[in-house]
Amino acid sequence: MITTDEIREKYLNFFKEKSHYEIPASPLVLEGDPTTLFTSAGMQPLIPYLKGEPHPKGRRLCNSQPSIRLQDIDEVGDNRHTTFFEMLGNWSLGDYFKKEQLAWFWEFLTDILSLPKDKLYVSIFEGLKDERGKVVVPKDEESYKVWLSLGVPEERIFFYGSEKNWWSRSGEPISMPEGEIGGPDSEVFYDFGKPRHEGCHPNCDCGRFLEIGNSVFMEYEKKNGKLVFLPEKNVDFGGGLERLSMAANNIEDIFLTDPYLGVVRALEGISGIKYDDNNRNRSFRVIADHLRASVNILSEGIYPSNKLHGYVLRRLLRRSFLHFYFLCGFSDWKLDEIVLTLESNEKIKKNIEFVQELIKEEELKFRRILDRGIKIIEKAVRDGVKIDGKFAFDLYQNEGFPWELTLEISQEKGLNLVSDVKDQFKKEFEKHQEISRKASVGVFKGGLADHSYEVVKLHTATHLLHSALRKVLGDSVSQKGSNITSERLRFDFSFPRKLSDEEIRKVETLVNKVITDKLPVSWEEKKLEDAIEEGALHFFAEKYGDVVKVYTVGDPKGGYFSKEVCGGPHVKNTSELGYVRIIKQEKLGQTAVRIYAVNEEKK
Ligand code: SER
Repeated sequence: MITTDEIREKYLNFFKEKSHYEIPASPLVLEGDPTTLFTSAGMQPLIPYLKGEPHPKGRRLCNSQPSIRLQDIDEVGDNRHTTFFEMLGNWSLGDYFKKEQLAWFWEFLTDILSLPKDKLYVSIFEGLKDERGKVVVPKDEESYKVWLSLGVPEERIFFYGSEKNWWSRSGEPISMPEGEIGGPDSEVFYDFGKPRHEGCHPNCDCGRFLEIGNSVFMEYEKKNGKLVFLPEKNVDFGGGLERLSMAANNIEDIFLTDPYLGVVRALEGISGIKYDDNNRNRSFRVIADHLRASVNILSEGIYPSNKLHGYVLRRLLRRSFLHFYFLCGFSDWKLDEIVLTLESNEKIKKNIEFVQELIKEEELKFRRILDRGIKIIEKAVRDGVKIDGKFAFDLYQNEGFPWELTLEISQEKGLNLVSDVKDQFKKEFEKHQEISRKASVGVFKGGLADHSYEVVKLHTATHLLHSALRKVLGDSVSQKGSNITSERLRFDFSFPRKLSDEEIRKVETLVNKVITDKLPVSWEEKKLEDAIEEGALHFFAEKYGDVVKVYTVGDPKGGYFSKEVCGGPHVKNTSELGYVRIIKQEKLGQTAVRIYAVNEEKK
């Protein structure tokens, strides 16, 4: 068996020998990137360079990037989907292109990993036409020729459209927002060799084929609603390390590769249940994936909470606890010990005690929820209360009790349960979301718990500072975090160095001018996409609902000073503020700055 560590090392050495510089992996939470909660691809931190900015380390880069993709969360439980994975990547920033990329990846697969050539299939972009039949992006004949020249037989080369062979962070060309980059790609698939049905092809999801690497030819950008060429032709390659390990070891189940095996075996030991092809496998897999993801998130210093990253973390942990309960019941809760069987990198090793402690803490909270919920269910059963979707929803809403468990427990108790608890629960859940959207004081509270007048004023001052900082330091400044007490505001933003005295003075002057100009502060509710279109600043876009509040300082139709997606509340007019003064600044790592400011009495 070749280990994932060995595969990673071989891959990086292979590309380093081909003059690539190994850039360090980025954190799972990218500073100053509001487009996604977590790093989901190795290319994400490289966007400015793919757009043409020169990279300090040259035109050939490679690395291994821990990534999280939450859209796969519901699919975790089969033999290949995970939320967390490590992505091997290599990039050409306007240097080599299709010929070299495809040949090198092929050499890596067939020479270095010794994959049998006849188990490999490839896919290519078939081209894109508009409604009138005019070619928007041509068919990728070049890749076709390269694959043939490498000895891939015609019958193992497949052409697909934008749905399969176009890559951007937001999918097909049509859904790419303004400024997004993308391009046609060519993927390689490993054949597990068991024909399962007539007409099976690499992209069919019967499980015979597994995608193990994607070479994106990053050439396009969306501008004014159209695809235009980027300044350079780039390559963005990404391949899931764990999937490469499945192929290299000819193992069909990702959870039997080494990153997960320790957890699976430990769970077998505790539960006495064998990891086998039965319906318990789902629980093993959810625990193994979610724990691995959680440990990686925790070791970056993110705590479980009810917001943003912390919320996702809590959800991942609670789902793994729930499945642990399914496997082991209430005994032997040893998840903090099980995490020790996960492979660890330096970051995890350094933080392991803290990680274990937090897992233990969350586990205790969850056990209390279980205890309380189970008692409520038992009482309901005694009282003859109907346990249905509404009941499950209330229990979830009031106690945080997972509906899957309500279902399971009621089944265990032999109740003649309404079979559609799940659907009913969903309906209740959607109804509730709708109500809270309508009644909302803002879908996104901006992290403000204290709505005292002092805090509200400082909140408006935060918006003013954000805009003023961008005006003085440039548009690369974006909010990373904000925290307000009644005494002061704290604002973290992406910027590589401390501000000069002159810059601070300029920012303060701009802000205080807006205050003396007595500008109105107003808000409107609109669709998130419309808000973004209008240029409203937004932070962690995907956490907002469809409809958001947009706060404007000045005339919303034009000439305003600041426009930002925010739940509020804010003052009605800037004249309510006094004099905003920056009292302190600190550098946060290499890429961010923290400032503190106060709102002083008017002089
Ligand atoms: N960006 C592409 C992907 O994530 C290739 O790196 O699949």
